[in-house]
Amino acid sequence: MARRTPCVGGNWKMNTRSADAAALARAVVADASSDVEVVVFPPAVYLQEVHEVVSGSSVALGGQDVSEQADGAWTGQVSAGMLADVGCTHVLVGHSERRHGLGEPDSLLNAKVRTALEAGLSVMLCIGETLAEREGGTTSDVVLKQVREGLAGVPIESLAALTIAYEPVWAIGTGLTASPKDAQEVHALVRETVGSLYDVPSADALRILYGGSVKPSNAAELFSQEDIDGGLIGGASLDAEQFKAIVDAAGRSCV
Ligand code: 13P
Repeated sequence: MARRTPCVGGNWKMNTRSADAAALARAVVADASSDVEVVVFPPAVYLQEVHEVVSGSSVALGGQDVSEQADGAWTGQVSAGMLADVGCTHVLVGHSERRHGLGEPDSLLNAKVRTALEAGLSVMLCIGETLAEREGGTTSDVVLKQVREGLAGVPIESLAALTIAYEPVWAIGTGLTASPKDAQEVHALVRETVGSLYDVPSADALRILYGGSVKPSNAAELFSQEDIDGGLIGGASLDAEQFKAIVDAAGRSCV
């Protein structure tokens, strides 16, 4: 089986002001680990500023969202080309706060995935079920549909630039976390599905991150699961010490 480099993303969401963003980025750079790929996702208005801090370090920069459109008359949108221009190498697509909070459908997310990949960005595609879907026993159907529709038309050569983040909606910002066993089950299923959509070596090489109330206290156990290759961190990524502890846990625990 392919050895996958662990990855930890810090999704700052709609938090920080310019001074805090730069200070947080400086702390993340100071704590960077050579064993773990670290990506920060600051608010769009601070990308350029954070880029100045992370530039030349091993910490990568990503946008929290991207337009499915190229440049043009799309008020309020940010294009993939603009993200690349301010130093982004990564972008989140389909975070639950956009998928469920803002009603972005799989077809739109698929267009965003393809546009971003074509622009040379690495994409973290977020998937996850709601509490009602989990309680209704449809978790597998829901996440596999999100994977299939999110990746429709994505060529196999682009998979190296793709990461999937499994973030159960009910675990985001709630303090509730999927048990390591439940998360592992979904991750294994996602990997198997990517294997059947593409091929097994590509699926083996794909990083699948877990997100949803990851903290220093639960990170190691989650990351020690066979198919969990790191995490996408919200609240705890705003605290440099907690984020460092989670990155360290990924370096030690991802198998
Ligand atoms: P929390 O870590 O705050 O639960 O957020 C997870 C998340 O949404 C990361 O994208």
